[in-house]
Parts: sequence; structure tokens; C-alpha cells
Amino acid sequence: MNKQNGSRFPGFYKLSVQQRIKALSDLICHLSDKEEWALMRETLPYKIADRMSENVIGVFGLPLGVAVNFKINGKSYVIPMAIEETSVVAAASNSARLISEHGSLTAVAEDPIMEAQIQVINVPDFSAAAIRILSEKKNLLRLANRQDPTLVSVGGGAKDLYVRKLQTVGGPMLIVHLSVDVRDAMGANTVNTMAEALGPEVAKITSGEAICQIITNLCDKSLVRSRFEIQVNCLARAEFSGREVAERILSAYHFADADPYRAATHNKGVMNGIDGILIATGNDWRAVEAACHAYTARDGRYRSLSKYQIEGDKLIGEIELPIAVGVVGGVTRFHPGVRIVHKLMGITYRRELAEIVAAAGLVQNFSALRMLVTEGIQRGHMRLNAPNTAYFSRATIGNAAIEAANQFVRQGLIVFDRAKERVRKRWRS
Ligand code: MEV
Repeated sequence: MNKQNGSRFPGFYKLSVQQRIKALSDLICHLSDKEEWALMRETLPYKIADRMSENVIGVFGLPLGVAVNFKINGKSYVIPMAIEETSVVAAASNSARLISEHGSLTAVAEDPIMEAQIQVINVPDFSAAAIRILSEKKNLLRLANRQDPTLVSVGGGAKDLYVRKLQTVGGPMLIVHLSVDVRDAMGANTVNTMAEALGPEVAKITSGEAICQIITNLCDKSLVRSRFEIQVNCLARAEFSGREVAERILSAYHFADADPYRAATHNKGVMNGIDGILIATGNDWRAVEAACHAYTARDGRYRSLSKYQIEGDKLIGEIELPIAVGVVGGVTRFHPGVRIVHKLMGITYRRELAEIVAAAGLVQNFSALRMLVTEGIQRGHMRLNAPNTAYFSRATIGNAAIEAANQFVRQGLIVFDRAKERVRKRWRS
């Protein structure tokens, strides 16, 4: 198999697992025998797993696929995704191909600023406390930076500090925010350590009592924006012209943006493209989920994470997400599977990973909408699912059922159990 146009891998899905690994090793980055062996058999040895968590009784597997055809900011990527849901990797690869052939995909990440919060209660005079904190800012930042000299030596560290007064049902509170440039780490450990070091000092300065000192996962100073443009005429599907598909996608976006019931599902489609990358790269997907959902509800209403518009003969999709990821520290230090994934992606900067994550979420959302507004989710899913339907049917009903199962799926018999039952009946007769 030849790689064409960067990460374009025509026919990649037709290869066996071994052949896919070999193709990546030949064309993307050399994988040692040990790495190939690890991908096939053991991405996480139980002895390492036992050190990572508690009461470990085994290692839990997920399929690791690679989405191909992605070109982001002009650079080609294969994007590993650890995900159990059928059709996510295929749909992402398909839409990425369409965009790279008929448009463009870009992404840009802000500086990696993470924040911690220090909650202070029983403050006798809020205005005076706030002024005292701000006048001590330099000393407090110095104290924070003493907690992580390595981070400071590479240009990161605590950079700012500000104060908010919060009204709560339990009374007013003073909330101190500490902003930290975490460079290429996700940063939770660092900012938590800094906040805990500052807590007693802040309590003394404010004559209050420090309660919680913890990172905020709503990292809205670390936003990533991604955008694609695509010619509408290449979007034609089923009985719809390209322009009709673009208009239907626009309408689906309006629906999601106006209605939290739909927005939750629309945004789940965005996260389909994101969580698998976070898991495969050893990142905290719960943190990113929490951040994205909180961010999209920031004006008091839960809305669509993505936006669409039609400009002339182009459909434009955009997304803005708070993405906290790391490419150093955490499990990247000792998880063999994660290290292989990083090597395959060829990323060494947090910024680049954050841009890939946002772009993949947007492309995945576009795939889902295009399918929803044309052939519909069940038919679309089952078309991609046909080989699995056949495979799992074969497990119970024999080889000759494969083609029959696929035929039923093609005919629109979309529920797996019903397709299987029909195959079983035909096989018996
Ligand atoms: C399914 O996992 C995701 C979708 O429901 C997303 C959407 O409805 O936009 C297809």
C-alpha cells in the first residue's frame, strides 16, 4: 500500500490488523518489534496497571483505531482513537478526506494557561482582603513558583492571580484564582500543589479560612479554535444536492443551538471525536468533557459546541473548546501504549495535540450531522456496521450467513438482533 498526499491511506480499512501496523511502521514512523508486539497483545502490562490504580484485577481493553486523511494547518496526521463505538473512526476518516480534497481544516490553540481556585470563607472585610491579596501578588506568585522550579526553568509557572467575590446560599466567599502557564503538561498536579501552598498564606492575608484549593477544569484561558471550509457541491448524498445538504446541516445546527435536549446529543457527537484521542494519548477525558460542557453553558443556557454557516459556495464549521491536555508527565511517562500513540502522532507539544483534538471533534460533528440530515443515523450507522454484523452473526450461525447478513443491512434491516434473527431463519430453512 502506498501512502498518498500525506496521511491519505486509500484502502487502509481493508487491511488486516497486522498489515495496518506494518503500513504505519513503514510510512509514518518506524515501530520496533517490541512496539508492534505491544500494540497487538499488551499495551498495558498488568504490573504497570497495578501501580497506576488501586485494587487492580486486570487490564481492560478497547479497540485502538487510527483515523486517517486528516490534514490540519496543512500538516498530515493519523489520529489514534481508543473507542468502542462503531463508525466513529470510519466517519472521521471519511469526512477528513472530503475536507482535505474540497476545502481546508485549521486549528489554533491559545497559551496553555490552567487555573487553580482557592476558596476563602469568613472574610471580615472583602474589599480590604481583595486589596491586600493584590498587593501581595508578587510574593504569592513567587511562593507558587517555588513549588515547581522545573516548570519555571522552561518558561512556564504561575503568571497571574486575581480575586472574585462570590455570593452563595452559604454566604459570600472570596475566590482567588491562580493562573499558571503549564507548558506541555496537563498541569493538574502542578496547579494543585501551588494552590495548596498558597492556601494558608491567603487565609492569613485575608483573615479568613481557606477551604478548597483545587484546579478549575473550566480552563477558558486555554481555548482552542478550529474551523473548516468545504465546497457545498461535494456534500451531495442520497437524494439531496450538495447545497441542500449544507442547508440541512445549518438547520440541524440551529436546532442544537436553541434546544439543550438536542445540544446534548449534538455535543456528544463532538466528544465522539475527542474522547478516543484523549484516552489513547493518556489524557484525562473526564476533565475535558467537564470543561467543554461547562464552557458551552457559560451564558446560562446549554448550547451547541460548534457553529455552522454558509458563505457563497462554502459550508463553514467552527468550534471553540477549552482543551487541557498534556504530552509530558502523567501516564505518558510509563504507559507503553500511550508512548506508542504519541510516537505515531509525532507530537511533542501540548498546543499541537490540543489543536488535533479540537479539529477531530469538529470533523466528527460534521460527519454526524451530514449523516443525520441525509440517510439518517440508523441506516448510516448500519452501513458502516455491516462487516461487524456479519462477523458476529457468523459466530453463531455459520459462514454462509455473512453475505445474507450484509444483504439485510443493505436492505435497511437496521436493528442488529433483527438482522441476525432473519439470517438465522434463512440459514435453518
Ligand atoms: C452518536 O454516537 C452521535 C450522534 O447522535 C451525534 C448527533 O446526533 O449529532 C449521531
